[in-house]
Amino acid sequence: MDRIAVLTSGGDAPGMNAAIRAVVRSGISSGMSVYGSRQGYEGLINDEIFELKWSDLGNVLHTGGTILGTARSERFFEDKWIDKAADNLKAHDIKDVVVIGGGGSFKGAVRLAQRGISVACVPATIDNDFGYTDYTIGFDTAVNTVLSIISKIRDTSSSHGRTIIIEVMGRTCGDIALSAGLGGGADVVLVPEISMNIQEIVDRVREGQAIGKLHNIIVKSEGVEIPTNELEEVIEGVTGTETRSVVLSYIQRGGSPTGRDRTLASLMGAEAVKILQENSNPVGIAVGIHCEAIISVPLQEAIDKAPIFHKELYDLAFMLS
Ligand code: F6P
Repeated sequence: MDRIAVLTSGGDAPGMNAAIRAVVRSGISSGMSVYGSRQGYEGLINDEIFELKWSDLGNVLHTGGTILGTARSERFFEDKWIDKAADNLKAHDIKDVVVIGGGGSFKGAVRLAQRGISVACVPATIDNDFGYTDYTIGFDTAVNTVLSIISKIRDTSSSHGRTIIIEVMGRTCGDIALSAGLGGGADVVLVPEISMNIQEIVDRVREGQAIGKLHNIIVKSEGVEIPTNELEEVIEGVTGTETRSVVLSYIQRGGSPTGRDRTLASLMGAEAVKILQENSNPVGIAVGIHCEAIISVPLQEAIDKAPIFHKELYDLAFMLS
């Protein structure tokens, strides 16, 4: 019976459990034994590799986080530990691994592939910061979480006539800010891909005030250069309007995955297993979605392709607010 392993690595994302479930259950359905690694690559190094049964994946589809645990492994950059991880896999007679995670996890998978292990990567990060796939698992849930918070904040912003800055995650990718800003009707959307100077931001706030807007919501991506507290002080100082800020941080990483993320995770997890099963020679691939179809591309291509910034969404968000 062929043996494959699955691990989750990097920042957790809602839908990781749905992806693990898809890997385990489609693997078992195809006649494989499926093993899990605890805390991502750390589990491979520590030989915390254990068999996952069908029933272990009961009751997890709707949950956030990852039942396998995750880590940003520092050791997995060092040759001796990468060798140890590959040796541990081989000792368990495992030649194929499904890696569920973001950019750093994909790079770790390349190092594993260099040791003769087949890897199929599944993109799971709230950041949506890959260019080869339209969406990553967890992004839709994070955006919906931010949207529900914007609605609440809009109430208090309107009541007090305050400007409120909502800082969202995303590293150097503005996709969470962009989608949540558009869907939440933010007055200003600040993303790392487009620079906006303080005067432009202030002008925008004043325009809102001039047309009698009660609320003023600024959705700001964490990757934007100016620190949120500094921006808060400047806007209050220049406009004379009470200004507050909220950093959403890990709130947007948790919670039950949306239907879209569960579907995406199920499709991608099953596809990763199928690819590994169909290839007897070592492979390094990444699964994705493009124009609603599941795709797979060479792993290095997935890593190298820069994220696509949707300027048309950005312009629309400004036009509509
Ligand atoms: O990659 C997901 C993410 O949540 C980013 O948006 C954020 O910058 C980062 O992880 C936070 O990392 P950590 O979990 O290590 O604090």
